[in-house]
Amino acid sequence: MPSVEALVESWEGETTLIHRDPTTGAHIIIAVHSSRLGTPSGGTRMKHYASLAEAVHDAHNLARGMTHKLALAGLQRGGGKGVIALPTAFDPAARPGLLRRYGALLKQLGGFFETGPDVGTSDRDMDVIAETGAPHVFCRTVEAGGSCDTGPATALGVFYGIQAACERAFGAPALKGRIVLVQGAGSVGRPLIGHLTTAGATVLVSDVDEQALAAVLREGIERIDPEAVFDTDCDIFAPCALGGALNRETIPRLRCRAVAGGANNQLATPDDAERLRARGILYAPDFAINIGGAMVAVLMEREGHSRAAAEARLESIGDTLRRIFQVADEEGVSTEAAARRIVERRLAGSRV
Ligand code: PHE
Repeated sequence: MPSVEALVESWEGETTLIHRDPTTGAHIIIAVHSSRLGTPSGGTRMKHYASLAEAVHDAHNLARGMTHKLALAGLQRGGGKGVIALPTAFDPAARPGLLRRYGALLKQLGGFFETGPDVGTSDRDMDVIAETGAPHVFCRTVEAGGSCDTGPATALGVFYGIQAACERAFGAPALKGRIVLVQGAGSVGRPLIGHLTTAGATVLVSDVDEQALAAVLREGIERIDPEAVFDTDCDIFAPCALGGALNRETIPRLRCRAVAGGANNQLATPDDAERLRARGILYAPDFAINIGGAMVAVLMEREGHSRAAAEARLESIGDTLRRIFQVADEEGVSTEAAARRIVERRLAGSRV
């Protein structure tokens, strides 16, 4: 991993802000990738990292992804990400205080960056951040007046994306009889499994967390050993765990026709898009397919939509993917490159 300084020097985004919380020793990183289309927005990821550089690197990549996904979905917002890098042996009792100080920082920044939940944070955490950080906080609980957790909306969007991928790969969007392997049974994987089984798909699931797995295993759902995920026959592979699942080591092993899942930053490096293409595996770019959570939050909390109206917009994720597949074909590039081209055209045509 390069040094923090090298990461900051080489990043193409607008701002890297690093704040150390003296009470806990946690580092708060706010990475603003682009404010071109509007207020930079993105979730806050809260976890322990091996080093500050790892945390900054994650914030940079996730913030870039937010710019791409919001632009691609036609939402007038820029991309950013918050990362709270916890110290080792973090005392859970210190959590509310840390979140309130994070909220105060957001408030001080005055709308420079607005946030919502991500891995390691929930709608209840957003309530706490909003105590000091409102109005710059999305996805508070319904009781607190928010649009609540993003997992279910992200999952429904991913489901529409999987249908679009099936249509492309097999000629029909129907999931009946298709085998879908879901990697990760967390806040997105769990509701996604529900949609898939209702649609008649055969679901295989894996998770390193036994408890998460137990919560989704029921009759008809087969468990796959985490080690065997990349070597298992399936029609669609749906990565819904942490990033980097698709890399130089795993792509040659894949035994699926398409990859379409909810995780952020699924490709370890940009070259991995070419590796998938060379193997004839259709890839639904992560930032195109996993916008559902942020989309519903933005539409409900900033554009006055009802939940029903916001959720109806999730179907547009299928249209976006169809467009990406078409551009990839027409321009002879990977689906990832096609999606980036569409984003660049949007950003170039922006009002700023
Ligand atoms: N976890 C969401 C994502 O990665 C983050 C988000 C939630 C962003 C709500 C904006 C509003 O897309």
